[in-house]
Amino acid sequence: MKILIFPDAEAAARETARRIVAQLVAKPDAVLGLATGGTMEPVYAALAAAVARGDCDGRRFTSFNLDEYVGLAGDHPQSYRHYMNRHLFDAIGLPAAQARLPRGDAPDPAEEARRYEAEIAAEGGIDLQLLGIGNNGHIGFNEPTSSLASRTRIKTLTRGTVEANRRFFGPDEQVPSLAITIGIGTILESREALLLATGGAKAEAVAAMVEGPLSAACPASALQMHPRATVICDEEAAARLQLRDYYETVHPGGTEPAITAPKGLERTRT
Ligand code: F6R
Repeated sequence: MKILIFPDAEAAARETARRIVAQLVAKPDAVLGLATGGTMEPVYAALAAAVARGDCDGRRFTSFNLDEYVGLAGDHPQSYRHYMNRHLFDAIGLPAAQARLPRGDAPDPAEEARRYEAEIAAEGGIDLQLLGIGNNGHIGFNEPTSSLASRTRIKTLTRGTVEANRRFFGPDEQVPSLAITIGIGTILESREALLLATGGAKAEAVAAMVEGPLSAACPASALQMHPRATVICDEEAAARLQLRDYYETVHPGGTEPAITAPKGLERTRT
């Protein structure tokens, strides 16, 4: 797992967007896994700006969002479909057929989850999976005790997650407590995973994910098993990491220095 620590949330979001742009430059028709939530808003703003500048093609990729609330139609202002249209898809003009999310208002949500999983497989799997993290260590809506081998399915949100999501809903609106979410097994099959965490509220979850035991109690810890996982965080989210000095030595300022031989030992003696 690569741990990259940036001075603030803005710099961390900028780096996340830069990596998505790099993926789209390398493979314009990539399959992206996308997340919603407050953390991702500056990432999508930066990505939309990069597409507008012509840094990458924003119309050829296919995306699969991690999750959607059960019961909400795509035109509901709090649905994740609506969030994605507002923060990214409308701005870059991604054709609707390439912008996939589970249908929250599907008549049979369990069947919709199975169909969504099959759709991801039919596209050849996910090249780059973008992730946020919940205060309780969830990824997607895989709440603590989710199977680390889980597939796309319906999950009941914890009371803490429902409360954290309340800020996006009106005072008279009931916050949904069921979601269709991509599974942890599905996330682990992505060819690359990129998790962004910002703010002090995430510090404990970040420490558990990176340095805690591999455990369903912290679903994000499953990323310890991912062969290409990068965690990008700001200083506040990194605050509880025990080995922070080490991460900052390996990746000073969040950079990836070239690998060189130690000074004075550049040539092998025979
Ligand atoms: C949303 C998702 C969630 C969020 C997480 C953090 O699609 O998958 O795992 O990434 O709940 O949300 P914020 O960024 O609002 O703190």
